[in-house]
Amino acid sequence: MRLKKGVLIVFEGIDGSGKSTQVALLLDALAKKGISAVSFREPSDSRWGKEIKKKAVEAGSLRPEEELNLFQRDRKENVEKNLMPSLSEKKIVVLDRYYYSTMAYQGAKGINIEDIRKNNEKFAPLADLVFVLDVDEKLGLKRISNRKVKDIHFEEKKYLSQVRENFLNIKGKNIIHIDGTQPAEVIHKRIMAMVTEYIKTQNSKLKAQN
Ligand code: ADP
Ligand code: TYD
Repeated sequence: MRLKKGVLIVFEGIDGSGKSTQVALLLDALAKKGISAVSFREPSDSRWGKEIKKKAVEAGSLRPEEELNLFQRDRKENVEKNLMPSLSEKKIVVLDRYYYSTMAYQGAKGINIEDIRKNNEKFAPLADLVFVLDVDEKLGLKRISNRKVKDIHFEEKKYLSQVRENFLNIKGKNIIHIDGTQPAEVIHKRIMAMVTEYIKTQNSKLKAQN
């Protein structure tokens, strides 16, 4: 299937909600259909992404404004270097986290959520589809417990619970909230059906315009 324009698909949700799993399943399914897709993640592997990781956001060593600044610098670079070029090549771009993560995470640290959205939408292209995988913080943390060496503190649970709440409050016609406790394959089938439908509708709209 050939695309008439680039399509930006975003996965969001708290840590352990199943984003990376769904990105991999979607890329695989698109490849099987012969649809050209690429994937990126934020924070990225760029200098800003590395700096974010080095300073260990979770450990709380940065002020919320500094965190915000680093995530946005990282995103600007990702937009320019990766997203824009791939979208103009009419590819499907699958993204593991985007500015909705900034709204949810830095919003949970007191930064105004609507301001974050507005500032990001000045430079970041709007997504065609955003899948927000919803699990509670207990399940998310349990799923990633092997990734973390340190103990999970109460504060972290409380913080993630606010992050989850913020994700649930992000609404829009392109934003789809999905129960992330369902089996991965069930979630994937639903997502794949929506992606295929979206591409079909988009292609026929653009055809009608030409
Ligand atoms: P994220 O990228 O959101 O942090 P991952 O996709 O890495 O989450 O998933 C975290 C863990 O949970 C992995 O071990 C993965 O195999 C598992 N997992 C992912 N999706 C599901 C699901 N729907 N049901 C059960 N376990 C899942
Ligand atoms: P990520 O690499 O996705 O973590 P993981 O490998 O555990 O899935 O992201 C690292 C952390 O950064 C994650 O806890 C979410 C947070 N984050 C923000 O706080 N704001 C942002 O804008 C983004 C993109 C991520």
